[in-house]
Amino acid sequence: MSKTAILEIDSEKFELPIIKGSENEVAIDISKLRDLSGVITLDPGYKNSGSCTSEITFLDGELGILRYRGYSIEDLAGKGHFLEVSYLVIFGELPTAAQLEHFETNIRKYTLVNEEMKNIIDGFPKTAHPMGVLAALTSALTAFNPKSVNVENEKEMYEAVCKTMGKFLVIATWTYRKTMGYPLNYYDNTKGYVENFMRLMFELPTEPYKANQVVIDALDKLFILHADHEQNCSTSTVRMVGSSHAGLFASISAGVSALWGPLHGGANQAVLEMLEEIHRTGGDADKYLDKAKDKNDPFRLMGFGHRVYKNFDPRAKIIKKAADEVLATLGVDDPILAIAKKLEESALVDEYFVSRKLYPNVDFYSGIIYRALGIPTDMFTVMFAIGRLPGWIAQWKEMRENKEPIGRPRQIYTGHPLRDFKTSDKR
Ligand code: ACO
Repeated sequence: MSKTAILEIDSEKFELPIIKGSENEVAIDISKLRDLSGVITLDPGYKNSGSCTSEITFLDGELGILRYRGYSIEDLAGKGHFLEVSYLVIFGELPTAAQLEHFETNIRKYTLVNEEMKNIIDGFPKTAHPMGVLAALTSALTAFNPKSVNVENEKEMYEAVCKTMGKFLVIATWTYRKTMGYPLNYYDNTKGYVENFMRLMFELPTEPYKANQVVIDALDKLFILHADHEQNCSTSTVRMVGSSHAGLFASISAGVSALWGPLHGGANQAVLEMLEEIHRTGGDADKYLDKAKDKNDPFRLMGFGHRVYKNFDPRAKIIKKAADEVLATLGVDDPILAIAKKLEESALVDEYFVSRKLYPNVDFYSGIIYRALGIPTDMFTVMFAIGRLPGWIAQWKEMRENKEPIGRPRQIYTGHPLRDFKTSDKR
């Protein structure tokens, strides 16, 4: 392939460099285009635009490939555990046993959240959505950790990473305990990270808590599958906010808000709400398939389709197996899950979905597992956020270490030309 692309505008030719990634992805570098030609490119939704180069995650939507730092998601979810995968995503290499021990010890150092944070959470109504509360609490952490990280200082950066991993898990579970009216719980530094998640959520002062290893393993897998997904909406938000040199907590808080939307992380909640609605209205899955296909009906089958995976979502394949295991182990018999199975079977052979390459995505199955574990629907996106945290941290760190410029897209103005101001009596 040639090293440059030629763009011709009004018979003037501009030569633009071609950039090739390590997996042979090709991009035309237009970073000098406006300086050279006075024009910009327009790409709403950024379907054709790369915002950065990155060494963290590779995915191929056509082939259904997802890799973190060169390791396949199948290998990582099959053989790794969440904290070692987090280390890999953030620092670039799988940790040695000593590095992993050091990482876990340092995360434990930061699992105590300032008691004054409880006053902030008390200010929210019990009915507040956990994602809104999580975004606010993450941002509030800035107030208790006002010193911004010097990204060029390896030790400071490492501490900031461990602090974020430790505190975010605790405040994420507090959003649930608040809605339940339970006392806010403390991390137990003698237990593992994912086991702590379950304890932080469900342990009550009135009785001992028994962890279920099948559940912990399934959650660990789910967190790994969500750990990063290159430049998706929330990650791009974290990088964009961080590009103004806003701190890590502030940038991650913005990422939480971006993740909340139903077209992104909010989809797993939307899946369950859709299944509940189908159940409530008589359980006719086919009726909802027809609604999804009707162009005059805005309804979409939640949990189906993906912006980049156009053949299958590799995460969905792995998690479908884990979902089956969890349901079998817990002996769950739930009409909502029967509806999910029916929808999945029908959509996979339906011409509308097949021709548009709309397959169940990871959120279709993650919601099913969360429900089986007794995690309330409006906490689903918080679960996603816990899994995505290492990715957000890694992308923020990479963006700052690469000294990327502040993110500031251009636009094509389509509003009024210059007009004269008229006082209100003349309008
Ligand atoms: N149900 C019914 N039709 C759909 C669906 C769906 N879930 N998704 C896409 N389509 C149709 C569109 O109507 C369109 O049809 P047309 O070509 O006849 O106009 C075609 O498929 C292509 O759809 P786009 O919206 O152009 O696809 P895009 O890649 O932009 O959207 C998205 C991807 C947003 C995920 C979409 O599939 C969707 O809304 N899915 C439901 C929400 C969801 O599950 N989101 C989770 C994503 S995964 C994640 O964030 C981890």
